[in-house]
Amino acid sequence: MAKKILFVCLGNICRSPAAEGIFNQKIKDKDVENLFVVDSAGTGGWHVGNLADRRMREAALSRGIELTSRSRQIEDKDLYEFDHILVMDKDNLNAVKSLIKDDIHPVHSKIKLILSYSKKSQLDEVPDPYYGGQNGFEKVLDLLDDAIEELLETIID
Ligand code: 4NP
Repeated sequence: MAKKILFVCLGNICRSPAAEGIFNQKIKDKDVENLFVVDSAGTGGWHVGNLADRRMREAALSRGIELTSRSRQIEDKDLYEFDHILVMDKDNLNAVKSLIKDDIHPVHSKIKLILSYSKKSQLDEVPDPYYGGQNGFEKVLDLLDDAIEELLETIID
């Protein structure tokens, strides 16, 4: 059975679509695409239906990664669908965990900060690049590239 992976940030137009794109690129390169179902979502709904932010799409494309996903808001049922939910920061973590209301049907998905997988970075949160300059987008891609490499090492059987 394919493992289902969901990346989550606030708007689903910068960090989590980038994580989804990097993950997809890596599983393609490793020829293990059939082992995974990959998606991303935002805890907020302001950008639903939109492509990723142009600045993030350009930064990713310059690394050979095309971001094609459209923003959607996370739903309660995602917590039952996905095996791993990787969030970008602690606000996202709290927002996702606050969706767990049902004591009768326990949630089995592993909900973790994506940078908990990083060996290189001292940071525990992926900084929100939305109101900053282009450097912020490059930084996000660097952090995600490293953490996702380690994530894959951990979850590929
Ligand atoms: P993201 O970045 O959570 O990485 O997609 C943001 C995108 C939009 C907003 C905030 C963060 N916003 O306030 O609209």
